[in-house]
Amino acid sequence: MSNSRDILIQKRHESKLGGGEKRIESQHAKGKLTARERLDILLDEGSFQEIGAFVTHRSSDFGMDKQKLLGDGVVTGYGTINGKLVYVFSQDFTVFGGSLSETHADKICKIMDMALKNGAPLVGLNDSGGARIQEGVVSLGGYADIFYRNVQASGVIPQISAIMGPCAGGAVYSPALTDFITMVENTSYMFVTGPNVVKTVTNEDVSSEDLGGASVHGTKSGVAHFTEPNEVVCLKNIRQLLSYMPSNCEENAPSLPYQKVNEIREVLSSIIPENPNQPYDIKDVIQQVADEGSFFEVHKNFAENIVVGFARLGGRSIGIVANQPANLAGVLDVNSSQKGGRFVRFCDAFNIPLLVFEDVPGFLPGTDQEWNAIITNGAKLLYAFSEATVPRITVITRKAYGGAYDVMNSKHIGADLNFAWPTAEIAVMGAKGAAEIIFKREIDSAENKELAWKEKEKEYSDLFANPYRAAERGFIDEVILPEETRDRLIKAFKMLENKVVNIPKKKHGNIPL
Ligand code: HXC
Repeated sequence: MSNSRDILIQKRHESKLGGGEKRIESQHAKGKLTARERLDILLDEGSFQEIGAFVTHRSSDFGMDKQKLLGDGVVTGYGTINGKLVYVFSQDFTVFGGSLSETHADKICKIMDMALKNGAPLVGLNDSGGARIQEGVVSLGGYADIFYRNVQASGVIPQISAIMGPCAGGAVYSPALTDFITMVENTSYMFVTGPNVVKTVTNEDVSSEDLGGASVHGTKSGVAHFTEPNEVVCLKNIRQLLSYMPSNCEENAPSLPYQKVNEIREVLSSIIPENPNQPYDIKDVIQQVADEGSFFEVHKNFAENIVVGFARLGGRSIGIVANQPANLAGVLDVNSSQKGGRFVRFCDAFNIPLLVFEDVPGFLPGTDQEWNAIITNGAKLLYAFSEATVPRITVITRKAYGGAYDVMNSKHIGADLNFAWPTAEIAVMGAKGAAEIIFKREIDSAENKELAWKEKEKEYSDLFANPYRAAERGFIDEVILPEETRDRLIKAFKMLENKVVNIPKKKHGNIPL
């Protein structure tokens, strides 16, 4: 009897050691934690329950039958984060470089199936050399089994991927199919083909970091939603990110207990500059309106002309989408439209109400934008807002010009309540440009052209550079003082909490991809 217990204890010990002390040391020497150390930080203390610790691979080619390590390079199971159930896998680089064998994939798939059946988020910690080279096609099949499950689970449970080491080749597509990707700076990279292949095919010399490091994906490609200075911060931020989400698409967004206090925020009345062409930071508005310290920005360093992120308002989780006048005057372009559209769809899939702050001079003109399909990409944001059925509120702080007025959660595309500050300008375009077009003949024939232009600009501006024309039509529900915004929004979202929208029967829509 005691012998059988000893065998189990010995096997447990063996499994926990992964690839052995030496490889653990080498992992630490690279500034990386082991698969299990990461889970200890990610999950509530003592909550991790392992599944599949004794799984080994089935391969015998290349002498693999003599190299079997318990767990086969991935630690899988479940635990809790902030007391709520989550399913996890954590690849163990100390075992065959965390490479994905048939059985390694089976373990991940088992956890994914459980997460989907039980309606709880999936968090994957990726640190892998990719397909287990000794196994050939069965490993590729294993990847595809995971991709398929990522897609089945999409929109049903939140899926989060942390990249904490190499992630190359087709392996990148599992994270890409999940909702959020977070990368650790300097120790992780993602690319479809590595520097050697790049050199052979295009003759470009590039390092792994410059090709697919965290800074590249956090700023240029937008593949990574978050980049973090080290693994501990990365794992802690996943905990915070999950705190804004329900466990699955059937649940409401979480709400924390909230004690109402004086909700008037005087500071808001002095944020918009006198000069309408002067920038200001929309995050100053967000910080004042959201519950203190609750704003959690997504895609912070990518397409900074739009700001997206989670926050709490009167304790409730909301998603915020805001034009950023401090960057490119808050214009909409290819990247900001994609960024905004994807965030809106996540919030809608998981019942997180949407709050929009609008100050947008229009879409960015130019060949670069047109050739990169600003038409299709702008349509993504338009589509995402139009199909969203969660409570949706817009606050126009200043400019709402042209097509961008329609796109940014206007009343016409289904927003529930649209507020404007007295500084709002809701028009086809700015007064200067408008005067130049519609009064061209008068200006050209005037003795003092500059003066004539100024007069016509004023005429247009008096008529349209305000929120009242739109309010007369009901396109704006209320013009509000900036300092009242937070109070208004808390009450409005409460009023909308039982919103139901019946969408026409369809298989699925066809978002302009
Ligand atoms: C089997 C692997 C492996 C792999 C690494 N190892 N990658 N074993 N299959 N894919 C093993 C190594 O043999 C070594 O074993 C241990 O893991 C650590 O690897 P090192 O090379 O010593 O580590 P490091 O110097 O940090 O380099 C890490 C690395 C490199 C950059 C990831 O190992 C590497 O280039 N690996 C191959 C990557 C690759 O080409 N993968 C296939 C991609 S294609 P020992 O016993 O010495 O500790 C792909 C297709 C997926 O993934 C398609 C899906 C559709």
